[in-house]
Amino acid sequence: MASPSSRRRVARAFALAFVATLASGSIAGAQQASTAPNTAPAAIFVTWNGDPTTTVSVDWHLAAGSDIPAVELRGPGIRRWRSYPGSAVAFPYSTRTARRARIDGLRPGAVYQLRVGGSRVYRYRTMPASLTRPVRFAAGGDTQAGLEQFGPMNRIAAARDVDFVLFGGDLAYSNGDPRLVEREQTWYETITRTLVTRNGRLIPVIAAIGNHEVFSSRDTTEATAQMMRETGVKLGDSPYYTALHAHARERQYGVVDVGNYLSVVLLNTGHTAPVQGAQTEWLRGVLAARSTVRHVFPVYHVPGYPSVRAFDGNTSVLVREHWAPLFEQFGVRVAFENHDHAYKRTHPIRAGRGDSTGVVYIGDGAWGAAPRPIGREHTEPAWYLATAKSANHGIFVTLNARTARFEMVDTAGVRLDTHAVPARCGSVAACR
Ligand SMILES: [Fe+2]
Repeated sequence: MASPSSRRRVARAFALAFVATLASGSIAGAQQASTAPNTAPAAIFVTWNGDPTTTVSVDWHLAAGSDIPAVELRGPGIRRWRSYPGSAVAFPYSTRTARRARIDGLRPGAVYQLRVGGSRVYRYRTMPASLTRPVRFAAGGDTQAGLEQFGPMNRIAAARDVDFVLFGGDLAYSNGDPRLVEREQTWYETITRTLVTRNGRLIPVIAAIGNHEVFSSRDTTEATAQMMRETGVKLGDSPYYTALHAHARERQYGVVDVGNYLSVVLLNTGHTAPVQGAQTEWLRGVLAARSTVRHVFPVYHVPGYPSVRAFDGNTSVLVREHWAPLFEQFGVRVAFENHDHAYKRTHPIRAGRGDSTGVVYIGDGAWGAAPRPIGREHTEPAWYLATAKSANHGIFVTLNARTARFEMVDTAGVRLDTHAVPARCGSVAACR
């Protein structure tokens, strides 16, 4: 419960952020890199809201009262530092502000240098236009925010030089709550410190939404009611996720297409959009339009085939009823699930039973959050689990033209499991 003084702090932070956003917006047009102050931003976050082979979206977070108007880049075709102004992005309920620059027209498979104000010189690498080299990414969810929990798997991903990281929700565990804004600040700071390769390459992150991104307080105290009046936060809001992930502003599900060889489908297990209805119809169209893409991976938060929670949980049932048939129809081979805080890999499943042509569900979200016991809410052994372990882990995926290989490792870097599937076949007939 918030004390009167903490409520005043939240209200003051909100007011300061609003004023700072207005102020920073007035200089959004600044062009000269030379005017950038000599300070580094509080955090730098690299993601995609466009073609990862030719674009990058860079956010940088700024402490109260400071501003860095632009990010600078140089590399192939850009011999001297070029300045890309960032537009102001409100960092909800924070004294911090943020800026965002989307950079287009880059060369595929190229390495650029990047700096923001007085930051070190980082690198950014565009994705290759085709699978002329193996593409590597790491997947996981339920990260937590601080160095102690979020950092270890990040460092392993960085040491493995993955092209990007894919998170399936429950990121900073702020619950969209203005009183927990520091967790959000910390999440991005941890990324800036740990999702960087040895040679200084910032690893892009794309993330689906989870329940802990959403304000859903059941607290009916007057203190919470007053905080909601003062800040304007409402039940069902996802203020930080929506503001601070460039691809999530309009709608909290979407698809990231990488060249013509990889599509990552970010789904929303009922957090700000129902599973059934419009999202399912959208998913049907997305999968149908990508029947020739070799690698298509849905990622979402609540598992259809849970390793810890009950099989008949409402959202799990919805995922199995509405999404699994589409995965099967359109030849998806692997889906990433989260939320249960354990490691699991299912048998291939089609029409609700084991079938070698079916979908393998890999998860279950324990990148940083404390692992839970397997089967904690199961009344009988889960027929669908091929393997499961109560362990923090990352899922390291290597794609080439013919296969997708999966290696699951724990936070000590020890291999827990492996799996491989052929590049997807596009239709049930082609799979058989
Ligand atoms: Fe969750």
